[in-house]
This record gives sequence, structure tokens and C-alpha cells, in this order.
Amino acid sequence: MALVDWDDTLRIDIEEIDDEHKRLIELLNAIDQAMREGRGRQLVDQIIDRLIEYAKTHFLTEERYFEQYGYPDAEAHKYEHAFFIVKVFKFKREFDQGKLMLSVEILDFLMEWLRRHIKGSDQRYSEFFRRQGRA
Ligand SMILES: [Fe+2]
Ligand SMILES: [Fe+2]
Repeated sequence: MALVDWDDTLRIDIEEIDDEHKRLIELLNAIDQAMREGRGRQLVDQIIDRLIEYAKTHFLTEERYFEQYGYPDAEAHKYEHAFFIVKVFKFKREFDQGKLMLSVEILDFLMEWLRRHIKGSDQRYSEFFRRQGRA
């Protein structure tokens, strides 16, 4: 059973963005699965690289829409994206330095991101786009 299932509370109503969020959920479920199979520690390096790739493409996608629709809270939102990137690079640095790094930490961070950012901040721009008649 998946740790997180896609549902309407996650929906942004822009296919490109919803597809990217679905990829993050797949990644999250893959981490959970790996941990339950006792392979979490081995996969940390790979997980971090995938998160960096994800962040690079996904945040650019959202920020492009902000510009296109003149989203007024774009700056605060971009700040949250920057925080995500800093955090993931911190995971990478710690891992490379051989510090103890558990996939459970990454999983906790992503669960919190899902709850606060995707269901919070991302939903707020979605609302704005709807009011603008975009979605
Ligand atoms: Fe997002
Ligand atoms: Fe976002």
C-alpha cells in the first residue's frame, strides 16, 4: 500500500503541475517502500539526486505560471522553493561528508512539504488562477 495517494486536495488543475506533483508523490512512496524493505540507507544518494532534479524543473514550471498570470504572492512562494533547494543541498552535503543521514529524515521533510507547501501555498496560487479564469 502506498504511503500517500493522489487525491483532490492536491489538485492544482493545471495538468503540467499536477503531473509534476504526482512525480513527487511517486518519489515519496518509493522512499517509503525502500525503507520498509530495509534499503533506505543505500538509496539516499540516489533519492537526493532525484529531489534536486525534481526541484529544478518543478519550481521553474510554477514560477513561469506566476509570471504569466501576475501572481501577487510570487516572491514569498519563491522563497519557500529556495528553502526546499537549500534543505536538499544540505542533505547532500551531510551525506557526502559521511554524516549519519537517514531516509526517514528526508521522508519527514517531504511529508511536511506536501502538507504545508503543496496543500497550502500551491493551493493558494491555484485559487488565484481560478479566480483569474485560468483553471
Ligand atoms: Fe508545487
Ligand atoms: Fe510551489
